[in-house]
Amino acid sequence: MKVLIVYYSRSGQTRNIAEVIAKKLGAELEEIVDHRNRKGLLGFFTSGNEAHLKKVIPIERLKNEPAQYDLIIVGTPIWAGNLSTPIRSFLMEYRVQITKLAFYTICLGSDPQNVFLEAEEIVSQKPIALMNISYRNIKKQNHLEMVDTFVKNIKQNLKEKRSI
Ligand SMILES: Cc1cc2nc3c(=O)[nH]c(=O)nc-3n(C[C@H](O)[C@H](O)[C@H](O)COP(=O)(O)O)c2cc1C
Repeated sequence: MKVLIVYYSRSGQTRNIAEVIAKKLGAELEEIVDHRNRKGLLGFFTSGNEAHLKKVIPIERLKNEPAQYDLIIVGTPIWAGNLSTPIRSFLMEYRVQITKLAFYTICLGSDPQNVFLEAEEIVSQKPIALMNISYRNIKKQNHLEMVDTFVKNIKQNLKEKRSI
């Protein structure tokens, strides 16, 4: 099974989790790169505003071809209660290349349900596994347990599909 983890990370949390998942699944990593300056207070407000308006922006071409993978795991921070703009842009541009999707979000404490739903609507398929990690989870140190469950659900789903 070839697995690619596609993520965007402004301050490193989504990347950290992507790296943990990659080790557990032997997956490859692909970071989404855009050309917006998202640093500092101005970058914070620009990013929040873009996310609120559900904007789609140009992103750099991926190094890997998502269509070559059996599963794409997408990771995004939640911005203004929404998908981060680089990840919305990735999903819109590459949706036809996504055979199977697993999805996770990182946030301070928002309800992730509408973000899960938007990802599902864009790719027109239900993710095989979902996870939302909040800062409270990280503070309480139970985020690694959550990653274990996420990975277990993914493996279980792939196993079931293979035995059909
Ligand atoms: C522009 C912006 C908007 C954010 N909006 C929310 C939000 O609505 N709800 C929330 O729980 N966290 C929000 N956050 C916090 C991020 O989701 C959180 O810090 C996440 O861990 C960042 O991931 P990263 O380190 O991979 O960039 C926001 C952060 C940024 C930069």
